Amino acid sequence: MASIGIFDSGSGGLTVLREIRKILPQERFIYWSDNAHCPYGEKTAAYIIDRSRAIVENLLSRGVQAIVVACNTATATAIATLRAEYDIPFVGMEPAVKPAVSGTRSGVVGVLATAGTLNAPKYLNIKGQYADAVRIVESVGRGFVELVESLELDGPHAESVVRASLEPLLAAGADTIVLGCTHYPFLLPLMQHIAPPDVTFIDPAPAVARRLRDVLSEGGIPASDASPGVELLSSGADTTLKKLFELI
Ligand code: DGL
Repeated sequence: MASIGIFDSGSGGLTVLREIRKILPQERFIYWSDNAHCPYGEKTAAYIIDRSRAIVENLLSRGVQAIVVACNTATATAIATLRAEYDIPFVGMEPAVKPAVSGTRSGVVGVLATAGTLNAPKYLNIKGQYADAVRIVESVGRGFVELVESLELDGPHAESVVRASLEPLLAAGADTIVLGCTHYPFLLPLMQHIAPPDVTFIDPAPAVARRLRDVLSEGGIPASDASPGVELLSSGADTTLKKLFELI
């Protein structure tokens, strides 16, 4: 059994924890929601790197042996620094552009993510690899993280917020839409309600879970005496985290 740390700017990373627990039910997970500093989406890279370091130190002091950066924005801006500074495995989020490019029938792929993710070189490099094959259109999910953190997952206000960022992708002809922020899968039912039925949404979390399983089985992580289960921690109030944990 291993002890795994997982962190996000808030509760979004729970959508990754959900997929991880499906294939690794016997491990110990310590989840850190940095909700006192959420959202990360419009913050500077330096700020996100500082927060990520502080969280990693905290998780290491609790004995974790590997860390999942369950935040696209923190992965895009901080994971390279974390890997250079700490001698444990880090697994990060990858915007699922590749499977979206394989799956699109219209030849237009939509990417919904934060501004921090969409402006990061990591994303721009991935996008550049497919720019000749398909048209890739992007939209920042404005207000999506705030909806999730305030537990507003449906209703007329949530629908109008989601519609405002989703409709430009649909209008551009996207039939395959990548969920490039870990908070967004909590709004998937609303997105599916807004989009025509032939639009496919792709969540990279199952692929991230498989990557973690490979990292653990590749070895190098000694068995720990941690008991299986999930510990939920947060830098701010934990009400949302606990409620959303019940939904996953
Ligand atoms: N859940 C995050 C992500 O995957 C961060 C969103 C935010 O804090 O802006 O990008």
